[in-house]
Amino acid sequence: MPLENMKAMLSKAATEGYAVGAFNILDYNSAKAVVQAAQEANAPVIIQTSAKTVIFWGAAAIISWVRQLVGSSSPPKSGPIALHLDHCKDLDLIKECIDSGWTSVMIDASAKPFEENLVLSRQVVQMARPKDVTVEAEIGAIVGVEDDIHVKEQQAHLADSEQAIRFCAEVKPDCFAPAIGTAHGVYKGEPRIAYDRLEEIATKTAVPIALHGGTGLADNVFKKCISLGCAKVNISTQLKYAFIDGFVAYHEAHNTQYNPLKVIDAQFNKLKAGIIEKMKLFGSAGKA
Ligand code: 13P
Repeated sequence: MPLENMKAMLSKAATEGYAVGAFNILDYNSAKAVVQAAQEANAPVIIQTSAKTVIFWGAAAIISWVRQLVGSSSPPKSGPIALHLDHCKDLDLIKECIDSGWTSVMIDASAKPFEENLVLSRQVVQMARPKDVTVEAEIGAIVGVEDDIHVKEQQAHLADSEQAIRFCAEVKPDCFAPAIGTAHGVYKGEPRIAYDRLEEIATKTAVPIALHGGTGLADNVFKKCISLGCAKVNISTQLKYAFIDGFVAYHEAHNTQYNPLKVIDAQFNKLKAGIIEKMKLFGSAGKA
């Protein structure tokens, strides 16, 4: 089963009113949890890597795990699976991922002035499209910490609708990430989502919207955002917690055992269960 880009899976999700989950992996075990969750839930899925994770393991290692996991069942058990590079400011790393076999990339030049963001994002589309790689791009500033991108509350700002329309018309991204009031990391209070802004941008740009900052949002918030045009939902922090808590909880319950494979398996099961739950919530379960 070859990896796909995000185009067909997001356009089907947008048309049918559900969202595809994009889950940030950390290593082989978490990649395996995403792929097996997709198989069990019969869901399309996006395996997402932060730039830091790519630098930590190297692109060659990650693509080999993912290809092995995705291609390991015959006949194929999975539906569509994309490998997507999350928030990346570095055009060399984007190129390396495209050349290594990622099927989708995100250019995050949202911290630059708007005109510069336009130019850089367009450059990435020009680099990616001939290789059939999809591109996500962002405007506005999403509060919180994602990878090495830190946005303080006072720096955060929503995407401007007029800029969003111009950006999508000129850049033609396959997926668009306007800041709409969600946050990366753990929410400190009730998030104030700009639903009107989201609806206006989704309708006027007609580009599938990526909902960033998925961890910690209430079920009704996900559902409303999906109904207004979010076809991709990003989940990262939830996996970081499951990765560590799954490991630690097993060890605490069996603290004389020292059987690493059992600990790894407990971590895998915790990751997978949380991912399947989200696939059901986003409506992607059963849609592969
Ligand atoms: P969370 O870490 O809040 O789940 O956000 C993930 C995200 O948006 C990655 O780009």
